Amino acid sequence: MPDKIAITLDVNGKSYDVNVEPRRSLADVLREDCGLTGTHLGCEHGVCGACTVLVDGRPVRACLMFGVQAEGKAIRTVEGLADGDVLHPLQKAFWENHGLQCGFCTPGFLMLAVGALEENPAMSEAELRDVLSSNLCRCTGYQNIVKAVRLAADEMRARRA
Ligand code: FES
Ligand code: FES
Repeated sequence: MPDKIAITLDVNGKSYDVNVEPRRSLADVLREDCGLTGTHLGCEHGVCGACTVLVDGRPVRACLMFGVQAEGKAIRTVEGLADGDVLHPLQKAFWENHGLQCGFCTPGFLMLAVGALEENPAMSEAELRDVLSSNLCRCTGYQNIVKAVRLAADEMRARRA
């Protein structure tokens, strides 16, 4: 069995040809083989959510998925959120509503919220809090994260209307 396998990953609409060990996590592949260090690693065992990315539109803990499992799937990371210099509504809302302090958890929260809001931009407050409860933040106390996501949800709904 080869030590490494050649795979092609589709990340933010761009192809990355990489040679990776089959046991290498998607988070490590993104950070170390694709050079996309916006995906953060906290606990590395599925608890904190800092490594959350979207895989075929669904939020996934990238520390719990092997990179080789992601071949053929559409991966989205925090690097793909902004449109050039124009921030995504969620990034803008986090910025304007102090939804971050140290920022370590922020990419994970952003990708979690993007995935959830793209699936259901009309989430109730309770649903939104339930979704956000899957990720951990050691700084903010969560109130401003919830507020930012709620305001971004309003803007995303208005854009669709
Ligand atoms: S680093 Fe993946 S869940 Fe914490
Ligand atoms: S802003 Fe520091 S961990 Fe969330």
